[in-house]
Amino acid sequence: MSSGVITASYIGASALFIMALSGLSSQETARRGNFYGMLGMGLALLVTIFGLVTDNQFLLISGMVLGGGIGWVLAKRVEMTHMPELVAFLHSLVGLSAVCVGFANALDHGSVALTDVEKTIHAVETYIGILIGAVTLAGSVTAYLKLSGKIGGKPLQLPGRHLFNLALLIVSIWLGVLYVEQSAAGGGLIVLLLMTLVALLFGVHMVIAIGGADMPVVVSMLNSYSGWAAAAMGFMLGNDLLIVVGALVGSSGAILSYIMCKAMNRKFISVILGGFGTKPKGTSSSVVGDVGDVHAIQAEETADLLKNAKEVMIIPGYGMAVAQAQHIVYEISKKLKSSGVNVRFGIHPVAGRMPGHMNVLLAEAKVPYDIVFEMDEVNEDFPNVDVSVVIGANDIVNPAAQEVPDSPIAGMPVLEPWKGKTTIVLKRGMSTGYAGVDNPLFYKENTRMLFGDAKDSVDEVLKFLSK
Ligand code: TAP
Repeated sequence: MSSGVITASYIGASALFIMALSGLSSQETARRGNFYGMLGMGLALLVTIFGLVTDNQFLLISGMVLGGGIGWVLAKRVEMTHMPELVAFLHSLVGLSAVCVGFANALDHGSVALTDVEKTIHAVETYIGILIGAVTLAGSVTAYLKLSGKIGGKPLQLPGRHLFNLALLIVSIWLGVLYVEQSAAGGGLIVLLLMTLVALLFGVHMVIAIGGADMPVVVSMLNSYSGWAAAAMGFMLGNDLLIVVGALVGSSGAILSYIMCKAMNRKFISVILGGFGTKPKGTSSSVVGDVGDVHAIQAEETADLLKNAKEVMIIPGYGMAVAQAQHIVYEISKKLKSSGVNVRFGIHPVAGRMPGHMNVLLAEAKVPYDIVFEMDEVNEDFPNVDVSVVIGANDIVNPAAQEVPDSPIAGMPVLEPWKGKTTIVLKRGMSTGYAGVDNPLFYKENTRMLFGDAKDSVDEVLKFLSK
């Protein structure tokens, strides 16, 4: 294959990856985005196998068939709720390949012919590639073990852990200088192995100190690391497409981590430093009362309020995912729509426990995209909403974020159903949500609490609506 065809295909594949990312930015175009991504990857693989690789093609294709087969089975079997752990596991493979490519690069005798400056560049890119790869590998395996419950989700915080991390960083830099010196004379393998151990230790230590509930941010951060590891592999192998793709994954993962932290009102650095959720829950200054202070409501009254409303806003949260109530919620919305009620879904960017959690659940229940809105699109409309139905959500509708300056969630953007006429909250009791903060919404005059498992509650409401 001529180098012109390879370059043109690589540019085509890069364009398809950019179109994939742009497609993934909205629910309507996400399928198309995925398709572009698959097309780009297919093109990249074809050109690499038949255009670049000249030896051992049988070995390469056998490996791809085996790996592809395992990936296919895993993707078919995984449940939506286990997606973050599968993603973490897959990131660990990117880290592992960066480590393997790095060692292969270090052992490559072709580099003997390089000039001094080229040797230094070769050594630096090998060192950095293995470093990022080993951190990604160890961090992702730890994240996978935590998310799958194979080790405890609680943050493990060793005394003096920041100093320990700093020491690991200094040792890595020192080993890096040593490696560049020794590799010029054809050595340095022991130093490289030592650095790999240090990087693996750092990866485990960094992730093990992070609270289980912050893991989605960590997974997205590791996604970013895996991108940089791939870019480092691109430098080592002199492959431009791998550099571009790695940079795209690295930067999009970093942007996603930033968006998630912003929507949770968390500082990225404090997520990385770990320990969130170690405070006992419900100890915030915003504690406002107990079940006796709220207005309870029954399913029948709820159905009546909904029937008589013109504008209904459904706000799903983590509890809807736990209860798996999305299918019945959609049935309710169809029933109301058929009797002339305007029903919309208001989605908070960090509702649930993973990015797009609610969108995925609603798409699974076949809720049409045109009635699903982002928080910013609906927040100003609440004064015109007759009934807001909060299903298993808590933090994302907590007015303390705006009203209680010393609340742990002060400043977090929230949906504002209390500005509407009536809010009905479906939850089992008065427990706090992920942030462990009491919610003044439950005690407002225009709020009604429908207690029970969300699925049982919406089931009953649907029965009364159907009567
Ligand atoms: P939460 O604040 O966690 O509240 C969920 C509520 O659902 C709980 O208060 C719980 O109350 C209720 N619930 C649980 N199971 C239920 C069931 N079977 N039936 C009815 N209710 C049930 O959820 P949210 O409002 O979706 O907010 C998400 C939180 O997670 C935010 O604080 C966010 O920062 C954080 N977070 C999100 C992400 C992403 S990317 N989405 C990542 C990490 C952290 P009861 O026990 O009383 O029923």
